[in-house]
Amino acid sequence: MMKDMENRPSWSSQFAFIISTIGSAIGLGNIWRFPYIMGKNGGAIFLIIYLILILFICSIPLLAELILGKISQKNTLGAYCSINPKFEAFGWLNVISTIMISSFYFVVGGWVIYYILKSFTLNQITDFGQYFTNFVSGTYTPILFTLFFLFICIFFIYRGVNQGIETANKIMMPALGVLLIVLVAVSLNLPNAHLGLKFMFSPDFSEIDFSMLLAALGQALFTLSIGMGTILTYGSYLKKEDNIAKSAFTIIVADTIFAILAGVMIFPAVFSFGLQPDSGASLVFITLPKIFAQMQYGGLVALGFFFLLFFAALTSGISIVEVPVAVMIEKFNISRKKAAAIMFAIIGLLSVPVTLSFSALKDFKILGKTLFDLFDFTTANILMPVSSMIVCLVVGWCLNLANDYVFKSKTLHNIFIFMMKYILPILFIILIITGLMG
Ligand code: PHE
Repeated sequence: MMKDMENRPSWSSQFAFIISTIGSAIGLGNIWRFPYIMGKNGGAIFLIIYLILILFICSIPLLAELILGKISQKNTLGAYCSINPKFEAFGWLNVISTIMISSFYFVVGGWVIYYILKSFTLNQITDFGQYFTNFVSGTYTPILFTLFFLFICIFFIYRGVNQGIETANKIMMPALGVLLIVLVAVSLNLPNAHLGLKFMFSPDFSEIDFSMLLAALGQALFTLSIGMGTILTYGSYLKKEDNIAKSAFTIIVADTIFAILAGVMIFPAVFSFGLQPDSGASLVFITLPKIFAQMQYGGLVALGFFFLLFFAALTSGISIVEVPVAVMIEKFNISRKKAAAIMFAIIGLLSVPVTLSFSALKDFKILGKTLFDLFDFTTANILMPVSSMIVCLVVGWCLNLANDYVFKSKTLHNIFIFMMKYILPILFIILIITGLMG
């Protein structure tokens, strides 16, 4: 039995919705994933392609999720069911994806907390690669930090949409903005900072290839939190009269500016210290600490940077866990507090073996991947595009939006519907097939 709709929470204002959704979008994806994927895929040219994809392609499933949430005013399971009870499985797909993504996202969140605590002692380290490996291959410490990070997320969820989620975002997002601007200024003042800017902003068109396109599309989906039911769930707490096209635009612009500024913070520093920009996932945990250790006031800069990462990861983590929590509350008619406690137990249990992917379970591989890599790969390359395709198909084909204009312009509205019905599903199929082969 569904819980009484009158008890359903809603955002206290449109601003609360926008800042919380921006909080969901801006996360490890912007600061950890974006710079290293861009570093590996040719810098400036990747950035151009990414911007085009974000604006013209990924905005469409973003809007589709928002529409489905706002119209149904239900959690992801209820939203799909309200269109056709046979679609319940699509909602479950979101529940499974969010549980899977959280069990590796929170592992990285745990690493961030650990590095916050180590900010002022980074200059005592000699081999940063070894230091990182030693930490993640430990048994108890990484598990403890993962659970601690999860606990903080659950705390805000437990307090509810207004008292918890909104409050967290209203405090942490401005703090995040200020930290980022300060760190960008520090980085731009380093010697040879212009080399990093050149890497980011002067494109080499010969580097374009198909794999870069896919990487850009995958990153664009990940960063906008699309394909998890997160945007749908946040959209469902909107009041019926709220304008979504404008909000979607604001969210996209904020997320993109943030990703670019994260690059402007990281690349000048990397080039200034003569390091390589394409070191992959370790950029943030190995390359940057090495830079902080050599910098003036490096401890303080490191502290600022890891706090920035922490706030970004936390506000996204909260939005991920809210998806299954909303389902539990409304589908099984239990209290938010109980639902939050149950999710703490489930995600906590699952994240233990994922954390151990770097130690005791290092050799436990499925399809040649450790659990950490498997969860990362399956969610970003398969589940997110599959669910993005589904939401476009369902909203495009099953909802009658003829009287419910998303855009004021009729032409824009028709283009949007056409893209949702035909173009996006085809694009996603290509993405999924190539993803599976990769
Ligand atoms: N958008 C978040 C980031 O950039 C990650 C995320 C994915 C959050 C899916 C929610 C859902 O880190």
